[in-house]
Amino acid sequence: MALMIGIPRETAAGEKRVATVPEVVEKLVKLGFKVAVESGAGEAANCSDEAYRAAGAEIINGAAALWSASDIVFKVAVPTSAEVELMREGGVLIGFVWPAQNPELMKQLAAKKATVLAIDALPRMLSRAQKMDALTSQAGVAGYRAVIEAANVFGRFFNGQITAAGKVPPAKVFIAGAGVAGLAAIGTAAGLGAIVRANDTRAEVADQVKSLGGEFVKVEYEEEGGGGGGYAKVMSEGFQQAQREMYAKQAREVDIIITTALIPGKPAPRLITAEMVQSMKPGSVIVDMAAERGGNCELTEPGQAVVKHGVTIVGYTDLNSRLAKQSSSLYATNLFRLTEELCKTKDGIIDVNMEDDAIRGLTVIKNGEVTWPAPAPKLPAAKPAAAKPVVAPAAHGHGTGGAPASAGKTAAIFGVAALLFLLVGAYAPAAFLGHFTVFVLACFVGYMVVWNVTPALHTPLMSVTNAISSIIAIGALVQIAPPLELGLDRPDEWIRWLAVAGIALTAVNMFGGFAVTRRMLSMFRK
Ligand code: NAI
Repeated sequence: MALMIGIPRETAAGEKRVATVPEVVEKLVKLGFKVAVESGAGEAANCSDEAYRAAGAEIINGAAALWSASDIVFKVAVPTSAEVELMREGGVLIGFVWPAQNPELMKQLAAKKATVLAIDALPRMLSRAQKMDALTSQAGVAGYRAVIEAANVFGRFFNGQITAAGKVPPAKVFIAGAGVAGLAAIGTAAGLGAIVRANDTRAEVADQVKSLGGEFVKVEYEEEGGGGGGYAKVMSEGFQQAQREMYAKQAREVDIIITTALIPGKPAPRLITAEMVQSMKPGSVIVDMAAERGGNCELTEPGQAVVKHGVTIVGYTDLNSRLAKQSSSLYATNLFRLTEELCKTKDGIIDVNMEDDAIRGLTVIKNGEVTWPAPAPKLPAAKPAAAKPVVAPAAHGHGTGGAPASAGKTAAIFGVAALLFLLVGAYAPAAFLGHFTVFVLACFVGYMVVWNVTPALHTPLMSVTNAISSIIAIGALVQIAPPLELGLDRPDEWIRWLAVAGIALTAVNMFGGFAVTRRMLSMFRK
């Protein structure tokens, strides 16, 4: 029987997001689920009860009725203990949970025999998981909003202008930390016309900063900042000193600083000191996105916008709620993609498959049994820490340099294959041998191409392979003008016209394929 997905009204103070939006309700219904929404749940995100009803949801009055009617509950904010009380025994909860920070909540959920999928525990390095990555979608929106908040209190234009009334210089924006939020902020500020600079301890992001229109400002101190998994590590005292000097210089020069620096599980690194704030021009702005974790700026007051030394310091911790509709629809899509993974049969029933790396990572409690933390996912192989950062993911051979045991195995496989080929060569008809050789070579080349490409590049690889497959155009060319030396007959007129049509169609595939590949690759370059 189809399960009921319930969307309660968020109860956390200032939380304006909602876990699903009407457009996504329709898709959930198509997946076979029933959807119930608590009356008023989407009000603050501009989603009315009527819109939900029109999309196929049932509207239920009151949290208690909603929670008890739902087999699965989609939430945004971490549920309160009172909310868990309302939950059905053996129910499913999907949303932010932060198990490390909320041990009491975990106990309470386990006692309810719940199955809990914590969207914050998603293994983000799996490329397959990107569509479900709510941390990324939410940080992207927050990064955008941080720039808008800065623009709101900044007294000038972002872009430079030459008007009859005089020349206006462009605003200079410095972004500390170029992770998800930082990159979104760089793109937004550059889009508004500002001069954007950014710094991050992970040198590999320099190219991403540039591709979004920013300039990467390096700390003059050799130390790799990657702590593995795309996250940062705590830097040495020498590095921090050099970084402080560079930040002090930037503070004197720029008009706006947006800080997003974060090291998972650690308090936010203090990057902007009181003296740096003091050295900024009057009317400057700091938006401290790390306010909730103590702030990257010494003078930040979490949740507030304050003016200190003539500089407005914005420490809002609800940037996503300040763009509630956008945040909610992206979050709803993330949860929908997850639901698709859970319900491959499209019959409104979920299967929490613990063999699936992404699902395993998310599942922090299964039927009351705590399964957090999940073992590290098998794929993809992380770049060795402290290795020289490479921008375009480099090819790496599999099986090369392996253990002697695996070398022996490879030799045995090659031996058996050689023997098989010998047999085929000895007994197969000559006409077959030519095709067979091409087939074997094609398998070999295909293997070398696909297996040596980093998973991130598989999509461009597919499109380039698609373009190359247009080599079949040769068949059509032969039909139009058969090579005389092969003694082929002139084909009928209608075959030739069919061949012309074939060439026209393959040309679209070929040129289109290469053009799309080029565009995809350019996202990795620069
Ligand atoms: P992320 O992990 O993708 O990026 C953080 C970046 O900071 C990383 O690239 C890391 O290398 C860099 N970093 C760490 N230490 C550094 C240092 N000492 N100097 C320079 N760079 C350093 O994180 P994400 O998702 O971009 O989030 C950024 C921050 O925004 C987090 O603190 C998060 O909690 C906060 N956030 C705040 C919201 C709000 O409403 N205020 C909403 C969403 C996110």
